Amino acid sequence: IADLNFLKALPKAELHLHIEGSLEPELMFELSKRNNIEIPFSSVDEIQAAYKFHNLQSFLDIYYQGASVLIHEQDFYDLTMAYLKRCREDNVVHTEIFFDPQTHTERGIDIGVVIGGINKALCDANNDWGISSHLILCFLRHLSEDEAIDTLEIAKPYLGLIKGVGLDSSELGHPPSKFQKVFAMAKELGLERVAHAGEEGPTEYIVEALDLLDVSRIDHGVRCVEDEALIERLKQDNIPLTVCPLSNTALCVYDDMSQHPILSLLDRGLCVTVNTDDPAYFGGYVNKNYLALSESLNMSKEQAKKLALNSFKASYISETEKQKWA
Ligand code: ADE
Ligand code: ZN
Repeated sequence: IADLNFLKALPKAELHLHIEGSLEPELMFELSKRNNIEIPFSSVDEIQAAYKFHNLQSFLDIYYQGASVLIHEQDFYDLTMAYLKRCREDNVVHTEIFFDPQTHTERGIDIGVVIGGINKALCDANNDWGISSHLILCFLRHLSEDEAIDTLEIAKPYLGLIKGVGLDSSELGHPPSKFQKVFAMAKELGLERVAHAGEEGPTEYIVEALDLLDVSRIDHGVRCVEDEALIERLKQDNIPLTVCPLSNTALCVYDDMSQHPILSLLDRGLCVTVNTDDPAYFGGYVNKNYLALSESLNMSKEQAKKLALNSFKASYISETEKQKWA
């Protein structure tokens, strides 16, 4: 069985991390004071006590509220730097970071402030620690496609800093088909495409993301286990899944980690990877997610190595970079 020391020593990439979901209660509390933003909690302990979720939406409500303390470029820098420190501790040498511009522009924060702060931290971590990264701009699927198109438009001056687009937030009732146009526009602009699908939503959403949005990765995707033909397609077409074990148990996708299908999907030849999603809310960073698989699913060292290798294979680093980790 792969123990923590073995897992720590493995170089890893993270491909599914919402930067707003790395806002630890301590920093949230500090920023609420620094920026004079009211949050309905009077202590760090009270914040932590509120983190009991029964589905995706119950989490999202608290997650968007938490993000309201982020105002200045320095706040986005501090948020991102705190996450990158955790990458360093966990031997995560490459990370592809989601951010939700609409969570901030809706509150009157300029997208340049958001991207500026995040990017400065990414540059510093690359220079100081050799951690490489890409940024992925996510559209909030509970909002309209027109609003997603507006967001892509205001991001245009920053496209040099953005690798791709993604789709997140409330999945049920907001199928990928709703965003066909804006994903076609993103493709035209040369951006990579990913989408959350099959977390809470049905397998049809995974198929739509592939057929209609032309994505090259699926975020979560765990409900593919319900459709044999889809599993075969994901395998044939080499579509990676960015799986988030601790997220799935925190949001009650599975009652217990022992029910998680990630290792059986791995053994069936799918390119599955291990990620944190929203580590400040779901109880742990990358190594903690790997460790949970060892403890609950008896993950072997071979399986852990394969998962870590997959994280580079599934990433958007160059083929020459990939050789380094092969
Ligand atoms: N935004 C942040 N985390 C998310 C998740 N797990 N699913 C959908 N949207 C999200
Ligand atoms: Zn996610």
